[in-house]
Amino acid sequence: MTFYAGERQQKIYSSGASGKRPIVPVDLTQLEDAAQKKIPTKAFAYIAGGAGIGKTIQNNRTAFQSYEIIPRMLRDVSVRDTSVELFGAKLPSPLMTSPVGVLEMVHPQADVAVAEATSSLGVPMIFSNQASYPMEDCAAKMGNSPRWFQLYWSKSNELVASLLKRAEASGCSAIAVTLDTTILGWRIRDLDLAYLPFLEGKGIAQYTSDPVFQKLMDEPDDPNAPQLKPKVTLHLLKTVMQMKKNYPGGFWKNLRSDRPLKAVRKFTSIYSRPSIKWEELKFLREHTKLPIVLKGILHPDDAQKALDYGMDGIIVSNHGGRQVDGAVGSFTMLPEIIKVVNDKIPVLLDSGVRSGADMFKAIALGARAVCIGRPYAYGLALAGAEGVREVLSNLMADFELNMALSGCTSIQEITSATLRKV
Ligand SMILES: Cc1cc2nc3c(=O)[nH]c(=O)nc-3n(C[C@H](O)[C@H](O)[C@H](O)COP(=O)(O)O)c2cc1C
Repeated sequence: MTFYAGERQQKIYSSGASGKRPIVPVDLTQLEDAAQKKIPTKAFAYIAGGAGIGKTIQNNRTAFQSYEIIPRMLRDVSVRDTSVELFGAKLPSPLMTSPVGVLEMVHPQADVAVAEATSSLGVPMIFSNQASYPMEDCAAKMGNSPRWFQLYWSKSNELVASLLKRAEASGCSAIAVTLDTTILGWRIRDLDLAYLPFLEGKGIAQYTSDPVFQKLMDEPDDPNAPQLKPKVTLHLLKTVMQMKKNYPGGFWKNLRSDRPLKAVRKFTSIYSRPSIKWEELKFLREHTKLPIVLKGILHPDDAQKALDYGMDGIIVSNHGGRQVDGAVGSFTMLPEIIKVVNDKIPVLLDSGVRSGADMFKAIALGARAVCIGRPYAYGLALAGAEGVREVLSNLMADFELNMALSGCTSIQEITSATLRKV
C-alpha cells in the first residue's frame, strides 16, 4: 500500500477551498479536547485518565523534548520510502495501533471500525484482550492486512491457550503480552466517578466468545478473588440491564438468563495473574508458533531478560501512563533498551507518541515502529472508522514530510546522526 503525504495535504487544502474543514483535528494533541465534548464523562475519564496525578502521562510527552532534529539540505528527497519490515510483513509506515480496550464506550462499531480503518491503510492493528468485539469479527473485515493479538495473562492457562489458538486462526502474525497490567493501576479519575466499564459487561467480548471461558463460567469462582457485593439500588439494576445488553445475543435474549452476570463475575476473578514470572513465558512458547512480543518493558535489565528468555520483540511502554504514576517517560528509556537489544529483536515504542516528529525521533534512536493509543480512540469517538483513518493518515503524512524535510528518503537514513541531545 503506497501512501503519499503530498496527496493528503492536497486533499485537505482542496476540501478547504470548497469550504470543508477536516472531520477530526489534525493536531493530535487537540483531539482530546474535541473528544471530551462528544463522549460521556465516564468514557472520557476512562480513556484520558492515567495513574495517580498523571505525572507519567506528562513524562511521556516531555521525554520527546530531550532530543531535537537537525535537518539536512540539498539531498534530493523527491522520492521517499517510509516502509518498514516487521515479522515478515511490509508496513507502509513505522506505525501500528496499540491495543485499546472497551472502545464501545465511544462508538458502537468499536474495534470493528478500527479494523476497517487500519486495514484500508495497511497499518497493523493489535487486537485488545479487552475488546468490545471478538477478534474473529475484526479479522473478517481485514483481508490480509497485518494484525496482532494482545494478551492479558489470565489466571486460567487453559483460557490463555484458547486465546492463542484463536489468534492464530484469526490470522494474527504476533502475540503482544502485556506485562504491566497484572493489577489495575490507581486511576483517580475513574475512582472519583466510581466507574469501571467491565462491571457493565463492556470490554469482555474476547472472553464471552471463548469456548473455554464459557466452560469456566460454570465452575465455582476462586474464593481468593476479590468479591464484588454491591448494595441493591436502582443504579445497580441499571448496571445489570447493561450487562444483559452487552452479553452476546442482546438484552431481550438475556433478560431471564444469569449468564451475563456470571460472565462479569468470572471475568473479574480470572482476568489476570499478578504472580506471573519470567520462567512462565515458556508456556506461551509451547502454545503458539507466533512471535512473542513483550509489551510494557522499561528497564534495560528486563530487555536483557526478554532476550535471555528467547522473546521475539519488545514494546517499550508504560501503558500510556495508566499504571504507575511518576514512572519514567517511555521514550526516555528507548536508547538504553536499544543498546542492550543490539539489533537482535525489533523494539517498538509506545506511550505518548503524538506527531510525525515523535515518530522520527523514535526511529532515529533505533525503534522499528511506534504504536499509538488514545489518538485513534478519539478519532473513533469523533467520526467512527473514518475518524480513525484520518488520525492515522495525518500521522503518516506528518512523519513522511518530517523525514523528507530533514533530508532523509528512507527509514534506513533516519539514524541517531539526525538528532542532537538537548
Ligand atoms: C482506554 C485505554 C484502554 C487500553 N486498553 C489496553 C488493553 O486492553 N491492552 C493493552 O495492552 N493496553 C491497553 N491500553 C494501553 C495502550 O495499548 C497503549 O499502551 C497506550 O494507550 C499508549 O499510550 P498513548 O495513549 O499515549 O498513545 C489502553 C489504553 C487506553 C487509553
